[in-house]
Amino acid sequence: MQKDEFNTKIGAIAAAAGSAVGLGNIWRFPYVLGENGGAAFLLVYIGFTLLIAMPVLLTELSIGRMAGTSVIAAYKKLAPRRKWYLIGVGGVICAFFILSFYNIVSGWTLLYAYKSLVGDLQGLSEAEITASFEATSGNTLVCFGWMLAVIAITVFIIAHGVKKGIERYSIVLMPLLLVLIIVICVFSLSLDGAERGLEFMLRPDFSKLTPKAVFAALGQSFFSMSIGMGCMTTYGAYIKKKQNLSKSAISVALIDFFVSFTAGLMIFPCAFAFGINPGSGPGLVFVTLPNIFNQMVMGRVFSILFFALLVIAALTSSISLYEVLTSFFKDHFSISRKRASVFVALATIVTGALCAFSATAFNFFDNFTANVLMPLGALFILLFVPCCLGKEKIRAELEAHGKPMRWFGLYYFLVKFIIPALILLIFVNSIMSWLGINWL
Ligand code: TRP
Repeated sequence: MQKDEFNTKIGAIAAAAGSAVGLGNIWRFPYVLGENGGAAFLLVYIGFTLLIAMPVLLTELSIGRMAGTSVIAAYKKLAPRRKWYLIGVGGVICAFFILSFYNIVSGWTLLYAYKSLVGDLQGLSEAEITASFEATSGNTLVCFGWMLAVIAITVFIIAHGVKKGIERYSIVLMPLLLVLIIVICVFSLSLDGAERGLEFMLRPDFSKLTPKAVFAALGQSFFSMSIGMGCMTTYGAYIKKKQNLSKSAISVALIDFFVSFTAGLMIFPCAFAFGINPGSGPGLVFVTLPNIFNQMVMGRVFSILFFALLVIAALTSSISLYEVLTSFFKDHFSISRKRASVFVALATIVTGALCAFSATAFNFFDNFTANVLMPLGALFILLFVPCCLGKEKIRAELEAHGKPMRWFGLYYFLVKFIIPALILLIFVNSIMSWLGINWL
């Protein structure tokens, strides 16, 4: 059978960007930035994106393209008779944990699209909007029900093989979402008191840069780019040899950053204008945006469109996570694709129920995956390069399109020494600060 490949450059980049851009940019980035003090966090986040996340993304894409298979098979093929395939196993566990809380947030988004449609959020005061979100997120049954709806939609898409269709639509719909964010941004910036939000996001106060904030910035940069758990390895397998991988990785990183940044510019001016605490946690987007929609001309239309498009952005990301799980169960237990996807759905319903029931479970899955599992996964993925592939093999893959890679020396130095050292340092530093030891 011929290997599925993306026929155009845009196809491969769009699919990888579709996985990267999701709730991580519009829901998670603003709330984590808000909890960690604003601009100083943003600077560190930018640094990590350039110095750490982008080279990791490039490495994952190259490993995937080199092997031409999905994640576990890739490590088995490239390093037979060794334990490196455990990277893939870690990725499977990570995907499962992410879906547990991701589906809940997708469910909230779907509910907010519905609420906007029926006009439930119209004319509410700031306090009522906040109370309405608290009632929603605190109600286990509501969270569970909307999560089930999201899982049903996802399984439908996967089981009916319309994933390609979704990807095709998302090439149009995701830019539309971005345009919408920019429009809301302009409106948000014109509100009274917006400048304080801008200042919060853009004027760094380094005293707020705690070890916890640095740790969170690292986790966010991994989460946002879907790296550290093998998801991007699968996409790499679909990229043609003649395509320049470095350019693809840079494009995905830029698109992903741009969406997060504009999402921040949309949220913070508005949050400050309405007196909402930027550190309000995972509900930030849901307690902030309905306030702007209530003031905008045609706000209800904007609100319906925004939440509906956000559901689609979430779906393209969660489908990429489902893929990791479904292909694992299919291959490992030799069962059909349909069976595997039903099995995955049932399993995520159970852990999702746990997140619907307990905010502690929700926060645990959210923080543990982004801050611990993904950086650790990335560490092993990077170690794989010098330990198993060697410099020339990875160089050959990166230069397979026929031109020398100008930055290869720098890339290899980062991958072999700097990034693993930085990840370890950040880990040790946050453990130290957690233990109350000030050593740096
Ligand atoms: N990056 C996606 C987002 O920002 C979430 C996501 C999809 C993901 N696939 C992933 C995160 C794989 C980590 C790993 O919403």
